[in-house]
Amino acid sequence: MEIIRKVSSMREISSQILAARRTIGFVPTMGCLHDGHLALVRRMKQLADVVVVSIFVNPSQFGPDEDFGKYPRQLTRDTDLLIAEGVDYVFSPEAEEIYPEGPATTVEVEDLSTRLEGASRPGHFRGVTTVVMKLLQIVRPTLVVLGQKDAQQAVIVRRMIDTLFLGTELLVLPIVRDEDDVALSSRNAFLSSGERRASRAIYRALCDAREAAEAGERDPEAIVGRAREIIEAEDRLRIDYLELVDGNLLRPVTAVEGRMLLVAAVYAGVTRLLDNVEIAT
Ligand code: PAJ
Repeated sequence: MEIIRKVSSMREISSQILAARRTIGFVPTMGCLHDGHLALVRRMKQLADVVVVSIFVNPSQFGPDEDFGKYPRQLTRDTDLLIAEGVDYVFSPEAEEIYPEGPATTVEVEDLSTRLEGASRPGHFRGVTTVVMKLLQIVRPTLVVLGQKDAQQAVIVRRMIDTLFLGTELLVLPIVRDEDDVALSSRNAFLSSGERRASRAIYRALCDAREAAEAGERDPEAIVGRAREIIEAEDRLRIDYLELVDGNLLRPVTAVEGRMLLVAAVYAGVTRLLDNVEIAT
């Protein structure tokens, strides 16, 4: 496995792979890898000839008061894990390489990027789409994979790929959970044992609401209310948002039909956790 630091080197390598008519599978990450990330890597190993994983803690998607400085970084451990998975290249550039000095170019998907996570974290998705656009231009993957864990991110990146005619195929894979059903996340490391226990209620709440919908409940507020009650019963949890939205445009649903997402952002202490389930009628 080779670790690439320079944009120019990565571009050169990708050019050679594509010239040899081999496919490139790309897994963008911010490192601190866990089994959720590795599930994406493993799937890519099956689907593409060459697998590139990026590890880049992207400053532009963190707000001024967010945890950019505190975000866990462990490049050596990460690269060891990726060697074991048989990854071909790790692209891990310096921020100066990705964001050269001077006026910035940004990419933003309107409307979708101001909802849910975007309402709580203004500018977050501009940072995500800008860096993903840059990474796609550098790596030029045939196929890119994202996790359903960040459901809104996946919807927004799909919209960017489609509307900017990027031509890369996007695959979105299911959420990987720990044995206690908490969705794997690099931020789980910040949870105390009490917060961790309380966090189990999030997925339980989402599943309870989904079951209600599957059993015929057709009032969106009643469905969301089921989940809210279970989460609010936990002292250590505080809901940031909990919404039933349509799966494509992420607008709150007025009628329970089609493919929907029940999405949650919940604080356990000071740690903000994301989770979601799909509800289909
Ligand atoms: P990061 O949080 O490191 O996540 C990298 C990828 O792993 C994302 O597609 C995310 O949805 C997926 N992932 C994280 N936890 C998962 C889990 N428990 N199950 C399945 N997939 C999971 O998302 C980002 O980085 C950044 O925003 C990025 C796209 C790299 C742009 O900077």
